[in-house]
Amino acid sequence: MEKADILVLDFGSQYTQLIARRLREQGVYALILPFNISAKEIKNYDAKGIILSGGPASVYANDAYFCDKEIFNLGLPILGICYGMQLIAHHFGASVVAASHKEYGKAKINVKYDCALFNNLPKSQVVWMSHSDRVENLPEGFITTAISENSPFCAIANEEKKIYALQFHPEVQHSEFGKNILKNFAKFACNCESVWNMGSFAKTQIAKIKEQVGDKKVLCAISGGVDSSVVAALLASSIKEQTILVFVDTGLLRKNEKEQVENALKLKFGIELNTIDAREIFLTKLKGVIDPEQKRKIIGNTFIEIFEEFAKKQSGVEFLAQGTLYTDIIESSVAGSSKTIKSHHNVGGLPEKMNLKLVEPLKEIFKDEVRLLGLELGLSKDLVYRHPFPGPGLAIRIMGEVNEESLNILKEADDIFIQELKANGYYDKTWQAFCVLLNVKSVGVMGDNRTYDNAIALRAVDASDGMTATFSHLPYELLENVSRRIINEVQGINRVVYDISSKPPATIEWE
Ligand code: XMP
Repeated sequence: MEKADILVLDFGSQYTQLIARRLREQGVYALILPFNISAKEIKNYDAKGIILSGGPASVYANDAYFCDKEIFNLGLPILGICYGMQLIAHHFGASVVAASHKEYGKAKINVKYDCALFNNLPKSQVVWMSHSDRVENLPEGFITTAISENSPFCAIANEEKKIYALQFHPEVQHSEFGKNILKNFAKFACNCESVWNMGSFAKTQIAKIKEQVGDKKVLCAISGGVDSSVVAALLASSIKEQTILVFVDTGLLRKNEKEQVENALKLKFGIELNTIDAREIFLTKLKGVIDPEQKRKIIGNTFIEIFEEFAKKQSGVEFLAQGTLYTDIIESSVAGSSKTIKSHHNVGGLPEKMNLKLVEPLKEIFKDEVRLLGLELGLSKDLVYRHPFPGPGLAIRIMGEVNEESLNILKEADDIFIQELKANGYYDKTWQAFCVLLNVKSVGVMGDNRTYDNAIALRAVDASDGMTATFSHLPYELLENVSRRIINEVQGINRVVYDISSKPPATIEWE
């Protein structure tokens, strides 16, 4: 059984993973578990504390989520955040009601009592609220540790029992000292030491992979990007002899990408790389398909069909390893209560029934954490800092039907954009940059002739984990040069536009 310093019970908040992440950033290993895990199972993790996350439910509703009550008798320090606070209050006999003043966004709190959580922190702090229920009175044995204008019980504590509760979200960056509050809980209430790092994560994942896979074989789907390369590196360090690497040429890759990936990875892990040419299969299946979600589902399903067919030809292959990240899971809405934004091909795009069992060692972490892990495992900086590229590839960067002609146009334009970014020192400054082929034709004039051709959008964003992003403020000269080169060099394009939307409300990819 896996060990963790802090267990975060997930009641469905959009931010649950951020709680774990903030603790990991500060050297404390936090693991997320379902809210209804039993107290008996919790004992197996040898944890030093428990956090009850926020969530969309109301404790007084018929369909409220409750944790095992025995958790309160384990003698472990507990921190409740938002819904977690309301649960604690409800459990200890206080009343929780719909708030007459719902609080969303920033609020100022005043610390009234320096409990473990507020140790060495300013008395007045900006925090981030997002709640529609509130605690009406103090539960027995608790004191108020902080108030806000609309919440007389904004933070409460029972220091003797080491139970703490916050109405606000310390895990969100807008909470000025939120990170410190979580660290204080770990350090002063739970006596955790800050010794965890990506090296410990690698060791834990290697042990987990060995336990999960046993003596069976694993198919590792590699794309040339950092996520799947890190997964391959973990497998190479744990079960090298049982690992089969496969790279699928979907035909939806960027210019020269197949050759680059093969050259970069062929000898990297000391494991043979099997390339599957599936260009025709993907193009045929995508013929006439316009709807983005349908494209994503078709691609996700086709990947699995190809892997399963390949696995059937080998003996003893029971697992498929892939570089799913937490972002893929939350946006595909398979975690908690979150809504589907888009079906990431390796999560929401998977078929309902699969013969291969999944090995997904990165599914708890974010892209920037994966990069640190990649460096820890000895991958080159070039590989680790490659721009992310989505599994569905260029298919979700062509608005409308994907066909050979549109793919060729997009590949050429994209190559020019990336070349120019690299030549001008902007590739490493942007999180991701690419071209999108629009399903829009417009009139132009080239030489003395009228043109009626397609438009290309340039997309470049700055981000740290892909959950939010702002469009990159690239210099006009650079954009002008890229536009001129694309229009001159790529047949079929007579107009280039720059996407100046951020995420949210837009997403990074257009589909
Ligand atoms: P969005 O478009 O959701 O993208 O803002 C966030 C990040 O995720 C990448 N992305 C994907 N990656 N499979 C992947 O492996 C997918 O289906 C997928 N969809 C989006 C996107 O490129 C960006 O870095």
